[in-house]
Amino acid sequence: MRALVLAAGKGTRMKSKIPKVLHPLSGKPMIEWVVETAGKIAQKVGVVLGFEAEMVRKNLPEWVDVFVQEEQLGTAHAVMCAKDFIEPGDDVLILYGDVPLISENTLRRMIEEHRKGADVTILVADLEDPSGYGRVIQDGSKYRIIEDADLPEELKGVTTINTGFYVFSGDFLLKVLPEIKNENAKGEYYLTDAVNLAEKVKVVKTDDLLEITGVNTRKTLVWLEEQLRMRKIEELLENGVTIIDPATTYIHYSVEIGMDTVIHPMTFIEGRTRVGENCEIGPMTRIVDCEIGNNVKITRSECFMSVIEDDVSVGPFARLREGTILKKSSKIGNFVEIKKSTIGEGTKAQHLSYIGDAFVGKNVNIGAGTITCNYDGKKKNPTFIEDGAFIGSNSSLVAPVRIGKGALIGAGSVITEDVPPYSLGLGRARQVVKEGWALKKRKEE
Ligand code: UD1
Ligand code: CA
Repeated sequence: MRALVLAAGKGTRMKSKIPKVLHPLSGKPMIEWVVETAGKIAQKVGVVLGFEAEMVRKNLPEWVDVFVQEEQLGTAHAVMCAKDFIEPGDDVLILYGDVPLISENTLRRMIEEHRKGADVTILVADLEDPSGYGRVIQDGSKYRIIEDADLPEELKGVTTINTGFYVFSGDFLLKVLPEIKNENAKGEYYLTDAVNLAEKVKVVKTDDLLEITGVNTRKTLVWLEEQLRMRKIEELLENGVTIIDPATTYIHYSVEIGMDTVIHPMTFIEGRTRVGENCEIGPMTRIVDCEIGNNVKITRSECFMSVIEDDVSVGPFARLREGTILKKSSKIGNFVEIKKSTIGEGTKAQHLSYIGDAFVGKNVNIGAGTITCNYDGKKKNPTFIEDGAFIGSNSSLVAPVRIGKGALIGAGSVITEDVPPYSLGLGRARQVVKEGWALKKRKEE
């Protein structure tokens, strides 16, 4: 089985500089949805590109064969441009880059039907409003597809539409393509004519509107996004996740969440995020591409490309940036920003800190206002804080620097040199007290 994805169109109605098929649906370019589904079914996947082909190609996996259609002369012409992809002895599935939600299940039903013996198997649907679509008309044992633009008045009431998905036998498709003419209302080479020229046609029907919806406008894209969002929320509710307020919860389709986790309102969970069991996420939290363990609590925070182990608590008002690893039972509190750093088991940074490019050991206490000065204006430097160290409040650790195991840093220090294990590091001016000085000063005034 081969699968060919047609995606040469510009998508004029999107009014966009980016090709239509790169617009994201639930965080993933539309074409990626299609290519992923195709890859589950077919041994080889080809894509026909046109508008901004190079930009689209960059977003495709390497195992996809790319063909370019310079001028969009119709769906049959698009397939013709990938003639070399079609093998006489192999079936080929036709899909579309802008019909992202086609399901694996429906495609498998088509393939199964096709293998009973057919030149082509088509996927149809019954629509209340079929306008704009090609209509499928049974003609004895044969089927005809007539495009909306070519439809005679008496057939306008036909509600069975051509979804555009087909399974072709390779030899039939190769034989019929050169016979297709462009004598129709649009002057295009229609792939539907290949169906009209077939002797043995099989038909499969779907009732799922989402999977056959093609995106031509941003309005349709946003509608699909909303449908998919609600589908995901229902799926999670069914699987033991509590979502307090579905109306303000945005969870990408790709996200996985474990049992007994509670998602509070105004929360966004995106990309390849996995959340474990028994967590509390939100309210007002955004999580992108994170790996989160069990019993984790994240409140009013932003987490990006981070790993958060079991029993950790984050926030309120924390910001985890890319490359953050929070080991088991660590605590990250309010107004703490962490980037590319590992925070060891049981370590706490509870208030007002910036920790960047740091390796922090177990059971470290990072006092309020601790800053790792990781950037010297040219490059980023690492800070090492070993197990059990205690960093007094408002300290600046000027990297590269190492605070040894069990060491203590006095509050308000600027640490520029390594502090050996179990030592005290103090880097501040000694306090001066002048008794009675203030009183004297005020009398002079
Ligand atoms: C097509 C079908 C129609 C069906 C409808 C379902 C034909 C002739 N008609 O009509 O029966 O009801 O889909 O949505 O096939 N494309 C290319 N190169 C081209 C032309 C199109 O790659 O030269 C791609 C487009 O990017 C698009 C898809 O093929 O993704 C469909 O093309 P479009 O012109 O939108 O076909 P429809 O008129 O919608
Ligand atoms: Ca279309």
